Amino acid sequence: MKFFLDTANVEEIKRIHSLGLVDGVTTNPTIISREGRNFEEVIKEICSIVSGPVSAEVISLDAEGMVKEAREIAKWADNIVVKIPMTEEGLKATHILSQEGIKTNVTLIFSVAQGLMAAKAGATFISPFLGRLDDIGTPGIKLIEDLRTVLNNYGLKAEIIAASIRSLEHVEATAKVGAHIATIPGSLFPKLWSHPLTDNGIAQFMKDWESFKKEEA
Ligand code: E4P
Repeated sequence: MKFFLDTANVEEIKRIHSLGLVDGVTTNPTIISREGRNFEEVIKEICSIVSGPVSAEVISLDAEGMVKEAREIAKWADNIVVKIPMTEEGLKATHILSQEGIKTNVTLIFSVAQGLMAAKAGATFISPFLGRLDDIGTPGIKLIEDLRTVLNNYGLKAEIIAASIRSLEHVEATAKVGAHIATIPGSLFPKLWSHPLTDNGIAQFMKDWESFKKEEA
């Protein structure tokens, strides 16, 4: 499974990228607003750090406006993916952009039907929101699992980005049901490589080594 970072924080991206773990980055208007930086400047900087796909979202709600914005955003770097909301206008824009060879990530997907529509319209990526479904008492992981089945059934090329991930359990469950990608907040990432028994084990090894050295001296 590929790991994307769900952040626009350049320091977080650099830290985790240095471990060889960042296959791409996703942002949205909320994530960008947290950084308090110019949208174009921060996206270009992220694209210069990460060679994989970097998603930047349009603000327009009509297809014409989305396509216009997408064509501009796509010029910022070779690895740009334009994020488009899952609406009728978004589907129209996705279809036009796919014919122009501009990569898209259709976002805010909450049902199998929405995912299927986006994939058929030509989306490069589709983003089902796991955590927000869990928030309303609907198991988000089931949507990811069902979408993978549907894409496989019909040989659709879109890749699933499991989004709105909130926990280590979400990441593990997402991997088990075969999402192509999990996009993970920077703050959650360290929990993926940590375990209390690893920390305890290291502490014990250090203690035993110190005793052994003292005896030897
Ligand atoms: C990423 O593409 C999504 O925009 C993001 O994962 C949404 O996460 P949230 O539901 O925690 O805001």
